[in-house]
Amino acid sequence: MRAIRSRAIHWPSSNDQEPEYFDDAVLIAENGLIRDFGPAARFEAEGFDLSCCEHHPSWLMLPGWIDAHLHFPQVDVLASYGTQLLEWLEQYTFPAEAQYRDPEFARVAAASFLELLLRHGTTSAFAFCSSHKASATALFEAASARQMRLVAGKVLMDQNAPDTLLDTPETGAEDSAALIRQWHGQGRLGYALTPRFSGTSSTLQLAKTGELARQFPEVWIQSHLSENLAEIQWIQSVHPQYQDYLESYEAHGLVGTRSLYGHCIHLSDSEISRMASQGGVAVFCPSSNLFLGSGLMPFERLKAAGISLALGSDIGGGTSISLLKTLADAYKVCQLQGYTFDAYEGFFILTKGNALATQQDRFIGDFRVGREADWVLMDPSRVPLIERRVSSARSIKEELFVYMILGDEQLVAETTVFGQAFQFDGSP
Ligand code: GUN
Ligand code: ZN
Repeated sequence: MRAIRSRAIHWPSSNDQEPEYFDDAVLIAENGLIRDFGPAARFEAEGFDLSCCEHHPSWLMLPGWIDAHLHFPQVDVLASYGTQLLEWLEQYTFPAEAQYRDPEFARVAAASFLELLLRHGTTSAFAFCSSHKASATALFEAASARQMRLVAGKVLMDQNAPDTLLDTPETGAEDSAALIRQWHGQGRLGYALTPRFSGTSSTLQLAKTGELARQFPEVWIQSHLSENLAEIQWIQSVHPQYQDYLESYEAHGLVGTRSLYGHCIHLSDSEISRMASQGGVAVFCPSSNLFLGSGLMPFERLKAAGISLALGSDIGGGTSISLLKTLADAYKVCQLQGYTFDAYEGFFILTKGNALATQQDRFIGDFRVGREADWVLMDPSRVPLIERRVSSARSIKEELFVYMILGDEQLVAETTVFGQAFQFDGSP
């Protein structure tokens, strides 16, 4: 059992403007789950001995952060200079992913990758692996050892990439099915069918992916959609039989409430209304969109159209694993379009919002009793500028906004996964 006493905020209802904040809270975790949570005064009134708590009066506790879109084999692609999507894939990304064919390389990389996520406050993620089955196996093994709630998938790609990265419609489907049987629903792990994007999958591969989605309706689907103007044109030439990019997925039954599409920047009105009516999730990846010069995702417009929205770092297109830095970019991308993304909306989407959009809100996203015990403790005193700036914040909302704009992993003092603490002493 662990008992934590600190300040705490979460969104127990599904309304981003209605958090529950306690300036002196207690959270009790047992067997990986939240057993109790509430104001310290209530615990004291019930006779609970507060002296048994790990007590951090100035720290702020939030539910663990969920990254709805990132690439496990792209840590070494971060900050690669000078290109946009298609050239960036060819020049930097495909060569980096080719290394993950080696199971030992993938095993070492998976451990380091998950340690990095935890160091940045990310307790849960939707991860693209490379096209090699070994890369997914390595990531699932590493996540299982840390009891992380992780959804991942081997990338499916059978054309338009170097040979060492290509599967075939048959081997891609066989490997995906084997990985689903082995890992989906094992502890906290889940599987996502992961066609990279329709440019690197033949029609037959997309059709086989649709068959798998029907055979295993409990798994997720993740891919990319409408990220870059040159990409959209290219997809049209690769798959001229479809009226638009979305139809290349729709035609195979790949758009539904468990389908997560990264980017969704340049969707047409028709694509927006079809995504909304089919329940597809658009994953906003502002850091990546700025870095790769892809464009400004029309967040407000997609939200108003009723599309379910999530947020992701999209590393290595994105430039930081830190979801705080991703929020700062989200704010700026929205500002440029006349929409002001507020701090409650920001921290809601990192926690409850991403849990809801990915249909995992029964397990994670808030501090309700029975949820899995994933949390992040932020210590503002670790960053002198932030410490000084928050001392004049007039409300918790103002304080959160400071973290959203100025914060990064230096603020993260502890990340807890399924009740187990990973503590960081402030040194790099
Ligand atoms: N589209 C297809 N593959 C990728 C990828 O690895 N990253 C991004 N940002 N977009 C993609
Ligand atoms: Zn991506």
